Amino acid sequence: MAEDVDSISELEEVPDDYVQGLFDLSGKRIAVTGAASGLGAAIAQGLAQAGANMILLDVDMDGLKRTERAIAKAGGVAGSWMCDVTASESIESAYLAICEQGSSPEVLVNSAGTAFRCAAEEFPEADFDRVLDLNLKGTFLASQVFGRAMLEAGYGSIINIASIGGFRAYPLASAYLASKGGVVQLTKALALEWGPRGVRVNAIGPTLMHSALTRKVSATSSVTSDFIRSRMIVDRLGLPRQLIGSAIFLAGSASELVNGHTLMCDDGYLIA
Ligand SMILES: NC(=O)c1ccc[n+]([C@@H]2O[C@H](COP(=O)([O-])OP(=O)(O)OC[C@H]3O[C@@H](n4cnc5c(N)ncnc54)[C@H](O)[C@@H]3O)[C@@H](O)[C@H]2O)c1
Repeated sequence: MAEDVDSISELEEVPDDYVQGLFDLSGKRIAVTGAASGLGAAIAQGLAQAGANMILLDVDMDGLKRTERAIAKAGGVAGSWMCDVTASESIESAYLAICEQGSSPEVLVNSAGTAFRCAAEEFPEADFDRVLDLNLKGTFLASQVFGRAMLEAGYGSIINIASIGGFRAYPLASAYLASKGGVVQLTKALALEWGPRGVRVNAIGPTLMHSALTRKVSATSSVTSDFIRSRMIVDRLGLPRQLIGSAIFLAGSASELVNGHTLMCDDGYLIA
């Protein structure tokens, strides 16, 4: 039933402590996939600084422990779970283990991902599958497992990590571009189905970032990064911590009316 527009007075009084609450994640349980490295590790540390209890997920336990130690050192709370997001059984069992130690997470950040550089005509089928499986299917499967409990609770926020590659093409990256275009659309698809039931689904679209992944793929060929950098309006890579503000915004009530959106953290890349 549509809200009666006449029921809103001309001046809606904003409570004194309203703004403080918009970005406060105190006590929220937030799961991050790909939390062992790069963007996921930085976002997890940032969300912990905003007060959240962090649930760190990855296939790399050493890396997870590194992130966990960094959060603990800063006075935050975090636990680590092995979880392969390409396999629903692995996500399910991590999810059950998480729930044995507390309530179901209210927020999920899908940061697990990979890239592979190769000319389209030579792209090995197995590598195409690997990129799509992790970046697109992994995002879907983790959202499905964690999203079900959010739907039951009637509240939740899912944040996918998309990319400028979800909107612009660059060479040697056919699988990656297809996967990130898919993530942008998947974000809208889930937002449409789940928004009316209280679960918002958004994405962050970073520019080319400083990370282990960028170093690894750039070592095989600089063609892709040279192409991207030549089109930047400012020639610089982003730092993982520069995504934290957007993650805090999308995780909490500050973004209450934001759903199905990809928030570009692209240093203006899509303008040009
Ligand atoms: N680095 C960039 O320039 C950039 C730009 C835009 C978007 N992104 C996206 O950000 C996300 C993170 O990238 P990053 O640069 O931090 O990479 P990264 O390699 O530093 O981190 C990726 C993490 O995912 C984990 N992972 C790999 N396979 C997994 C699996 N099956 N299950 C669970 N975890 C798994 C890895 O162990 C690693 O910790 C990716 O989705 C990537 O596409 C990166």
